[in-house]
Amino acid sequence: MTSLLIALLFAAAGTGADRPGQTVGQMALTPPMGWNSWNKFACNINEQIIRETADAMVANGMKAAGYQYVNIDDCWQGERDGQGFIRPDPKKFPSGVKALADYVHAKGLKLGIYSDAGAKTCGGHAGSRGHEYQDAQTYAQWNVDYLKYDWCNCGDLRPDGAYATMRDALQATGRPVVFSICEWGNSKPWEWGGKIGNLWRTTGDIHACFDCKVDHGTWFSWGVMQILDLQKGLRRYAGPGHWNDPDMLEVGNGMSIPEDRAHFSMWAMLAAPLIAGNDLRRIPPEVAAILLNRDVIAVDQDKLGIQGFAHSVNEGMEIWFKPLDGGAWAMCVLNRSARPQKVQFEWKKELVVDDLHKREARFEKVTYAVRDLWTKKSLGTTKETLNAEVASHDVLMVRLEKI
Ligand code: GLA
Repeated sequence: MTSLLIALLFAAAGTGADRPGQTVGQMALTPPMGWNSWNKFACNINEQIIRETADAMVANGMKAAGYQYVNIDDCWQGERDGQGFIRPDPKKFPSGVKALADYVHAKGLKLGIYSDAGAKTCGGHAGSRGHEYQDAQTYAQWNVDYLKYDWCNCGDLRPDGAYATMRDALQATGRPVVFSICEWGNSKPWEWGGKIGNLWRTTGDIHACFDCKVDHGTWFSWGVMQILDLQKGLRRYAGPGHWNDPDMLEVGNGMSIPEDRAHFSMWAMLAAPLIAGNDLRRIPPEVAAILLNRDVIAVDQDKLGIQGFAHSVNEGMEIWFKPLDGGAWAMCVLNRSARPQKVQFEWKKELVVDDLHKREARFEKVTYAVRDLWTKKSLGTTKETLNAEVASHDVLMVRLEKI
């Protein structure tokens, strides 16, 4: 009996709390890809939208391109029952979450859900405080694959403790669940999140603008450039299984096509989760072309899992690099300014060094082929100077392969 107990204790200790970046098993080894309801629908969600979104992800090629999670954000909840079990809103989700998970799984996709560490979510629905183990068990019974866990109404709760409680609750179910920490970067979740979740929000909410800040009274939401600037210093914390999350994509939600392209490219350079936030059931071809760019997705999903860095910043022009598997590199020239700007890059004169990961591109010794990931055209090799013009709020994104 005693030896059985000891064996069980050892087995429990091995299920993950001690292994950074994991809940149960090896998860999110590349940044999670999928869709979430919040950016487009906010609280106006129902099971039909979720089902149609899953259908669309299969039909429009997103599933084939790697998008996997169909995530329901806030406002799916109804009341707790007499025993405290959470139930979905019977009007919005009359068939229940399990039926929805079955539907999504039958399409070869996975289902995500949302809760909050406080007693109430940001939208005022039932949160998980005091019900962590009960809720985790319920999600597991529903076959949920992903949990986004928010931070509204938490008073003076300690975030690392509150998130560790839910991680432990998820692990106790034995079901692998990607755990998304949504604490907005307030208490430097990058310092403790790697042992607790698979991704952590680094900022407040994104807003569908390229360069703006929106005052909501007690909080701000942020444009794409504002969020990009807030990622400074965080790359050391990201890696397979544990990612910085600069928030979900606003591609297709009102910015111009160049701005959407720049947003998507920079999220790929950041090795950010690629969670689409637009209405996938009605997706203009030029927006689909952005979300479906497999070369840019491959930069995001590169198996090294190294977050990119700014190599130079000059008058609204930024040049970013990201080391890729096999000695390749991604380079992205971002024009933040309001006018088109020329870029002239003399490879041999540049020292591209990633001190953190001990990688450098030695253009005087090694020649790389340069391929434009948006036009799909060859731009020659690193023996020649790169000369290009980048439109306002747009990017030039290339991949460098050794020849
Ligand atoms: C917070 C989160 C958002 C969204 C809403 C839902 O603001 O940061 O991403 O989940 O709550 O109410």
